[in-house]
Amino acid sequence: MLGGETLAPPPIWMMRQAGRYLPEYRAMRAKAGSFLDLCYNPNFAVEVTLQPIRRFGFDASILFSDILVVPHALGRDLRFVEGEGPRMTPIEPAEIADLGDGHDFHANLAPVYETVSRLRAELPPETTLIGFCGAPWTVATYMIAGRGTPDQAPSRLFGYREPDAMARLLGKLAEVSAEYLIRQIDAGADVVQIFDSWSGVLDEASFDAWCVQPVAEIVRRVHAVHPHTPIIGFPRGAGSLYAGYRETTGVNALGLDWSVPLAQARALQESGAVQGNLDPLRLVAGGRALDEGIDAIVRALGDGPLIFNLGHGITPDTPIAHVEQMIRRVRGG
Ligand code: CP3
Repeated sequence: MLGGETLAPPPIWMMRQAGRYLPEYRAMRAKAGSFLDLCYNPNFAVEVTLQPIRRFGFDASILFSDILVVPHALGRDLRFVEGEGPRMTPIEPAEIADLGDGHDFHANLAPVYETVSRLRAELPPETTLIGFCGAPWTVATYMIAGRGTPDQAPSRLFGYREPDAMARLLGKLAEVSAEYLIRQIDAGADVVQIFDSWSGVLDEASFDAWCVQPVAEIVRRVHAVHPHTPIIGFPRGAGSLYAGYRETTGVNALGLDWSVPLAQARALQESGAVQGNLDPLRLVAGGRALDEGIDAIVRALGDGPLIFNLGHGITPDTPIAHVEQMIRRVRGG
């Protein structure tokens, strides 16, 4: 599939498929105490990763973790505030040169690698195991602002005012993220996805410098060690810049958000697999909105290389019955 062949019905999984819409996730989260305990305890992380596979039989399983464990493993502080999201101490330009010094990056991430290898052993052999990291730009936005923001103004300003510091930060993140993905593949990940959730807020030149080039560096490094492991790039909101993104970064497949028109998605399939792109709110609404959204994607993209997915993560208020309905319909039931 990720080699560009067509499967009918298309394989299906969901971004954030292990999450708060599942009662068994909420129970495990309460038992773990905090979100980071869930990520760093392989017993919990394996269990939570397997929950949606057991319940729905998805074709792929994504490692349960978070993109922000990478800066955390470099020694930046990180906490998750209930109902609000991640919080970090904003990084200063002067702190970037020795970022990670004195911290054993791979030792800090050892629980993640253990989770991956246990998952590969426990998952059915036909279920693809997806590892992941955040793209340098998206990870940097949280390191710079210390939290999520709607337009990433703090990070865009940082990049314009301190271009050298930004380049150094993104270069460092690209280097360690590549190593992180290589270790996940060593441990058993079949495919890796690079989440660039905030690429859609940049102008053309910044998109190239801060999104495309660092991701191209990751792809180069990962494929130098694991040339046959497919890499999915998800530059959310990249719009008309999607086509050049695959060409320049070298990612094998493109994750599409739901704003990408299906005719454009179809054209993107000419150069390789695409993944997406149902609006997660169609899944919340259910009924006709859901059926029509699914049918349009399968009709437009189903006879080319397609991984059916949402255009971004599933939201906590999604009814489980709608997920079941989606899977049945995609599989032609
Ligand atoms: O897809 C999966 O099921 C794998 C697990 C996964 C999580 N986060 C679990 C999570 C993945 C791949 C991520 C990626 C991630 N994390 C991204 C990129 C993808 C995207 O959604 O845009 C980003 C930007 C983050 C940073 C992050 N983590 C934010 C902004 C938040 C808060 C928002 C929210 O939904 O609460 C998180 C927390 C988080 N990561 C949760 C989960 C299941 C919810 C935590 C909880 O249980 O309270």
